Amino acid sequence: MPATSPQLLNRQILLARRPSGAPAESDFTLVEVPAPEPKAGEVLVRVLYLSLDPYMRGRMSERASYARPVGLGEVMTGGTVGRVLASRNPDFGAGDIVEGNLGWQDYAVSGGKGLRKIDPRLAPISTALGVLGMPGLTAYFALLELGKPRAGETVVVSAASGAVGGIVGQIAKLKGCRAVGTAGSAAKCRYCLGELGYDACIDYRASKDLAAELKQAAPDGIDVYFDNVGGAVTDAVFPLLNLRARVVVCGQISQYNLEQPELGPRLLWNLIRTRARVEGFLVWDYAARYGEGLAQLAAWIKEGKLKYREDVTAGLEQAPRKLIGLLKGENFGKALIKVAD
Ligand SMILES: NC(=O)c1ccc[n+]([C@@H]2O[C@H](COP(=O)([O-])OP(=O)(O)OC[C@H]3O[C@@H](n4cnc5c(N)ncnc54)[C@H](OP(=O)(O)O)[C@@H]3O)[C@@H](O)[C@H]2O)c1
Repeated sequence: MPATSPQLLNRQILLARRPSGAPAESDFTLVEVPAPEPKAGEVLVRVLYLSLDPYMRGRMSERASYARPVGLGEVMTGGTVGRVLASRNPDFGAGDIVEGNLGWQDYAVSGGKGLRKIDPRLAPISTALGVLGMPGLTAYFALLELGKPRAGETVVVSAASGAVGGIVGQIAKLKGCRAVGTAGSAAKCRYCLGELGYDACIDYRASKDLAAELKQAAPDGIDVYFDNVGGAVTDAVFPLLNLRARVVVCGQISQYNLEQPELGPRLLWNLIRTRARVEGFLVWDYAARYGEGLAQLAAWIKEGKLKYREDVTAGLEQAPRKLIGLLKGENFGKALIKVAD
């Protein structure tokens, strides 16, 4: 008997057009093709969850980046969690739950490279795309290795309630720091304060004077700035940096939809004044240490020290709309698409 039924249809979302500015739903197209059959050495995976992440905007463009863009007519790239339906690879068996970059589709075959087996008894499988996956690892290594927070210091986190930022703020508190967040709504700020334990949170969209509010929230200045957004929020942070501050450049989401970078104030003088260090971060650089990061994050969750929030939407066909929304701050927590039960 063949490994898959010939009727199995695979919905795929392809990149149809390169966006100019903010992406539109018409930049994507949904097609139905027969599900692939695994060849020797391959597994067939039923995608259950698809992760939506800010980096996807970059892959839709041809701009120079650290990764190849998605080609026109190719399946959109994306992290997924799925179930192995059929295996011709000795490392995997039917029924295994796996995490890997299988893209915006219902079914995919994989040779096993980059596929990680998930133990569904340890945590909900969706967490392999969030707190126990790439965003959690980003928060962990970027804050601890580049930010080097010390007890008593002030850590400011932009996109503070998000998949990465929400974990950064909590780790800063675990390290004995004052944690100050910026987030895009009153509800997100309430969550940062009430659930995640931030000491202060500023709704930057509602703020009339961000610089003044930040100064009030960080009266002793800023020792670590974990930058997820860039733009006006970052401009407000730089004058408040302390001597030997560390700026972790993790993301610049406020700029991702722009065709030309924004011109901001010239703030680099602050780096001479403070001898601060500004360093870019890419989670892949820590691939050899993912096991260590995941073990610590899982231990903190088990001990009740780390909370996480997911923003789950059902239906693969919703992915374009939800990615467009993510780039406008409409997600509240780790953005996920539930592709199948
Ligand atoms: N370097 C790496 O290895 C790495 C790895 C993972 C993620 N990242 C970066 O980390 C950042 C956060 O990613 P995430 O996955 O945790 O996403 P997320 O924070 O869960 O979602 C994105 C958030 O960005 C904020 N945002 C959207 N548009 C904005 C704008 N124009 N100005 C300011 N903020 C805006 C929104 O929050 P508000 O409503 O609070 O504004 C939105 O909810 C992104 O910049 C991403 O590229 C980097």
